[in-house]
Amino acid sequence: MNVTVIGAGTMGNGIAHTFAQKGNNVFLYDTNETQLALAIKTIGINLDRQVKGGKISEHTKNETLKNIQCTSSLAQASEGATLVVEAIVENLEIKKSLFMQLNNLVREDTILASNTSSISISTLALASSRPDCVIGMHFFNPVPIMTLVEIIIGKRTSEQTLSRVKSIVVELDKTPILVNDFPGFISNRVLMPMINEAILALEEGVAEVEAIDQIMKLGMAHPMGPLQLADFIGLDVCLNIMNVLHDGFKSDKYLPAGLLVKMVELGQLGKKSGKGFYSYN
Ligand code: CAA
Repeated sequence: MNVTVIGAGTMGNGIAHTFAQKGNNVFLYDTNETQLALAIKTIGINLDRQVKGGKISEHTKNETLKNIQCTSSLAQASEGATLVVEAIVENLEIKKSLFMQLNNLVREDTILASNTSSISISTLALASSRPDCVIGMHFFNPVPIMTLVEIIIGKRTSEQTLSRVKSIVVELDKTPILVNDFPGFISNRVLMPMINEAILALEEGVAEVEAIDQIMKLGMAHPMGPLQLADFIGLDVCLNIMNVLHDGFKSDKYLPAGLLVKMVELGQLGKKSGKGFYSYN
């Protein structure tokens, strides 16, 4: 199957890696050539981890890399695509503009999936000339190893699109779970208030960073504490999602913690910026 992945950031490179590893022809598109080079480097490093851990062979690693072609031409990337997965910046206007461009570039029956973590699929579909082919495919970081894909059904998503996407996810050895199109879907409606609450508790001096994380790791068997997870996701992304929940439900229950807002203003975005609740080299 020909798959186009739009956006070569953390999620985009993980999605490209995952499809390519399953033998699909992947076009990885980004406007930024440096980002594309970085994505291929990251995919190589992650494939090496999988080889080292005995999860895949050296042969699969090489085939996976061969299955990925990088391009900064959207026309080249999307021509002949069976599926397009968009993983660009979480900005409604930018995503809408991309969906409008795709109207003239892809086939009538190409499935247009968004990896958005909170933006409404039904709203995005309004920018498309084929809203029945628009659906949410929400992957989780690190994509090669997280087995969930949250499938968001937009108001106009067709049965055919949904059924095809469910099969595609199963072919990736992942589990599709269906949700309706509400702010934050299920994953972030549940996860982000927990992270936000951990930040509020830190702000109020209830406990230190490490203590909060250890409590959730040892007491609740979470693989990462909420503050470490926030760093891993990106504090700007967390703030953005809290704002989507706050605006979408019009409830102060989802008001972002002051400390979260402050850290984002200071450019302390977590792992990607070198500093968040923890420091990274
Ligand atoms: N690619 C390939 N393999 C990877 C990888 C990657 N990007 N990252 C980790 N791995 C592999 C490691 O090589 C290791 O393999 P072996 O078992 O063969 O050694 C295995 O995964 C476990 O990794 P580590 O030993 O480095 O560390 P760990 O046991 O702490 O696991 C983790 C790391 C899987 C990230 C784990 O900490 C975890 O599950 N954390 C929570 C992740 C999470 O919640 N993700 C969702 C974030 S929310 C989101 O993405 C969506 C949103 O909308 C905000």
